[in-house]
Amino acid sequence: MKTPWLLDLTAAMVLLVFVASSMPLVSSDPGQRVSMTLVRGAAALGAFCLDGSLPAYHLDKGFGAGSNNWLLQFEGGGWCNDIASCVERSKTRRGSTRFMSKTAVFTGILSNNASLNPDFYNWNKVRLRYCDGASFAGDAQFRNGTSMLYFRGQRIWKAIILDLLPKGLAKARKALLTGCSAGGLSTFLHCDNFKNYLPKTANVKCMSDAGFFLDAIDVASNRTMRSFYTKLVSLQGIQKNLDPNCTRAFYPEPSLCFFPQYALRFIKTPMFILNSAYDVFQFHHGLVPPSADRTKRWNHCKLNVTACNPHQLDALQGRTCWEH
Ligand SMILES: *[C@@H]1O[C@H](CO)[C@@H](O)[C@H](O)[C@H]1NC(C)=O
Ligand SMILES: *[C@@H]1O[C@H](CO)[C@@H](O)[C@H](O)[C@H]1NC(C)=O
Ligand SMILES: *[C@@H]1O[C@H](CO)[C@@H](O)[C@H](O)[C@H]1NC(C)=O
Ligand SMILES: *[C@@H]1O[C@H](CO)[C@@H](O)[C@H](O)[C@H]1NC(C)=O
Ligand SMILES: *[C@@H]1O[C@H](CO)[C@@H](O)[C@H](O)[C@H]1NC(C)=O
Repeated sequence: MKTPWLLDLTAAMVLLVFVASSMPLVSSDPGQRVSMTLVRGAAALGAFCLDGSLPAYHLDKGFGAGSNNWLLQFEGGGWCNDIASCVERSKTRRGSTRFMSKTAVFTGILSNNASLNPDFYNWNKVRLRYCDGASFAGDAQFRNGTSMLYFRGQRIWKAIILDLLPKGLAKARKALLTGCSAGGLSTFLHCDNFKNYLPKTANVKCMSDAGFFLDAIDVASNRTMRSFYTKLVSLQGIQKNLDPNCTRAFYPEPSLCFFPQYALRFIKTPMFILNSAYDVFQFHHGLVPPSADRTKRWNHCKLNVTACNPHQLDALQGRTCWEH
C-alpha cells in the first residue's frame, strides 16, 4: 500500500519555496524581548498547564499600518501521551509556566524589523506558550490520591483568545495563525475555530510549519505515529475537540482526525503547509523510530541524509511497500 506521503509533500514543497523566499532562515536579527502575560481569566475556565499553573502568551503590539493585523504563533515541543511522561513534563518549561523564561525573544516571522520581516513586522504578534502536551487540543484531567495533572490544552487556547479579543483581536482585519512542529499541528486543529472568533470581514489564513505529521508505516511495518497519537487522544480527552465532520467520517477510528492528512479536507479556512521532505522528526520518530531499527542499519543515513543508500531513499520517499 502506498502512503499519501508523496502526494501531500508535493503540494507542501511548492509552498516551501513560496514561504522560504519571504522568511530568511538565518539572520543576525537580535530580535526584540517581549515579556510574558499570564492569562488571569484562565482559572475561571479551568484552563491550566499540566501542573496547574496559569497559561501564558507574549504579545508585541502592532503599529502603523499593522495595528489591526494579528499573527498568532503556537509554540511547539512534542507531546506527552502517558501519565509518567506528563508528570515529567509538568516539572519542566514544557508543562508549566512556573519554569518558563518570562521573556521571549521575537525573531523571524515575529521580528519587528521591517527589512527582515517585511510582511509582518508591524502586526500584533503573539506567541502562545505550550504547556499542555497535546497541541492545545486536550480536555481531561488525571488525579489519584497523590498526583494531579491538567490536560486542558483546548481551554488554554480558548482562554488566550478570549484574553486577546478585547486587546484588539476582535477588530482584526487580517489574521494569520501559525506554529511550528507540535505547534504546526495545533495550527491545523484550530484554524477554523480561530476564524470563527474573528469578524466576518477579516481576512484569515493559517500556516503550519513542520506540523504535517504523517500516519506513516515505519520500516518495521508498524504504525508508530498512529499508536502514539491514539494513546495521546485517549489520555488527554482530545476526541471531542476534533472536527465532528471528520470524526464522523473516520468512525470507528475518530482519533485519526488528529492527523492533518485526514483533517485537512474538512478545514475551510485557507491553509498553507510548509514541510520538509526529510523532516527530521518524521524521519527519526515516525518512519525509522529506534524501535523499528534495533540493528541500527539506519544510523548513518539518519545522521547524514547524503549517506543513505538508494533503498533507504526509496523508503523515505514513500516508494517502498512495507506491508507484507
Ligand atoms: C534590521 O535588520 C537589518 C538587517 O539585518 C539591520 O541592518 C538593521 O540594523 C536592523 N534594524 C533595526 C532597527 O534593528
Ligand atoms: C499517582 O500517580 C503517580 C504518577 O503515576 C504515582 O507516582 C503515584 O504513586 C500515584 N499515587 C497513588 C496513590 O496511586
Ligand atoms: C513492530 O512490528 C514487529 C513485526 O513487524 C513486531 O514484532 C514488533 O513488536 C513491533 N514493534 C513495536 C514497537 O510495535
Ligand atoms: C460539517 O459539514 C456540514 C456539511 O458540509 C457543514 O455545513 C458544517 O459547517 C460542517 N461542520 C463543521 C464544524 O465544520
Ligand atoms: C555525509 O555523507 C557524504 C556521503 O557519504 C559525505 O561525503 C559527507 O562528508 C558527509 N557529511 C557529513 C557532515 O558527515
